[in-house]
Order: sequence, then C-alpha cells, then structure tokens
Amino acid sequence: MIFEQFFDKISSTYTYLVSSGKGREALIIDPVLENINDYINILNKLELRLVKVIDTHIHADHISGIGELKNKTNCATLMGEGAPADVVSIYVKDNEKIKIENIELLTLYTPGHTDDSYSFLMNDRVFTGDTLLINGTGRTDFQNGNPYDQYKSLFERLLKLPEETSIYPAHDYKGMKVSTIGNEKKFNPRLQVSSVEEYVNIMNNLNLQNPKLMDIAIPKNSYPRMKVEK
Ligand SMILES: [Fe+2]
Repeated sequence: MIFEQFFDKISSTYTYLVSSGKGREALIIDPVLENINDYINILNKLELRLVKVIDTHIHADHISGIGELKNKTNCATLMGEGAPADVVSIYVKDNEKIKIENIELLTLYTPGHTDDSYSFLMNDRVFTGDTLLINGTGRTDFQNGNPYDQYKSLFERLLKLPEETSIYPAHDYKGMKVSTIGNEKKFNPRLQVSSVEEYVNIMNNLNLQNPKLMDIAIPKNSYPRMKVEK
C-alpha cells in the first residue's frame, strides 16, 4: 500500500495520500491549495490516478485544495452532508463506504469541532480531522462547534475503536505524526475527564485566538465557494 503524509508548515496541516499500489487509483484527504504541485508530482511519479479527494470539514486555517485538484485531475470531491461547499460532488453520510481500487474507507460522523466534521476509518487507521488530535482535540468555539457533540464523537465513536488503531489527525503543532487510540485514551489531557460537563468546561475555557487566515479561509472554503484562481 502507498501511504504518504504531507505537512503544510504554514498551517501545520497534515494531508494524506492513499493508494493500494503503483499505477492504481488514489485518494487524498485534506489537501492544502498551496501544495497542490507536491501532490501532483507524487501522483505522477507513482503513476497514480487521483479519483477522490476528501475534506474532513470546512477548514478555517488554510484554503482547501479540493477544488483545484478537481480542476486539474477531474477527481470527485467528497465531504459530509451538510458541508456548505458547492465544490463537493459527492456528499457522504455516516457509516458509508468510500471505495477506490482495493481500498475502502468507512465514514464516521464526528461533529463537535464543526457541525460538518467527519472521520474516516481505513482498517487499522483512522483519519480524525480536527475531532481528535494527538494530545488534544479540535476547538469547538466557532463554525457551529459544540463541545457536547464533540464529547459524544470522541467517547462514543472514536475511542470505541480498537486501541491499536492508528490516529492520523489533520493537524499537529509539535511534530507528532501518528498516535493510537490506546495512547490517546491514556495520555491525551483532554480525555482524562469523568463527565461531559468536565469536558465542556475545559473546551469553553480555552481562550484561543482565531486562526490567522480564518477570515480568508472560511469564505473561500465555504458555499458559495469563490472560484479558485489558477
Ligand atoms: Fe479545523
């Protein structure tokens, strides 16, 4: 299997490329507009045909590359239903299968960071977007975020996956590339809570600054999506 993890230094975003092998179909998760050429170069090098791109949610800190990848490769663009982005060609629901050649991803609706946040389970690994981060969880204070929903998404969905499941988040700010459900259960400080109220209290008192690009990124990534300049 081909599995590539790209890192965008400006927004600390992780992007993933998945394929079952050289010359086969490929899928990309959470591409960043500025890095499109890097993805295309790898696709070409490995003779991969990009057929699907996914955004885990509407991002607030970078401009998504899904529209531009669709323009350049004619791939399908996927997001969860309810995502306000008109660039999306296939809306997925909870518990649906996304297939490319020899690979299958299961959709998990995991709202909380935003109300359109999805995670994607691929056998022994899960792409958690900004729902579950390594040693953290995604903020819930804008884009219809909701800490109660996030608690449910974490404790009733993601943390019920097998402990050895690898976690690949949409961001990391400290250079961590991968974790496991078991590790996060044990060591993630946000998850060491004994009630939903305790979790909500933590999330409502983070006092974070807004992302630098938020006023540009949300309108560009949302409906009506502005045309991406070439
Ligand atoms: Fe986010």
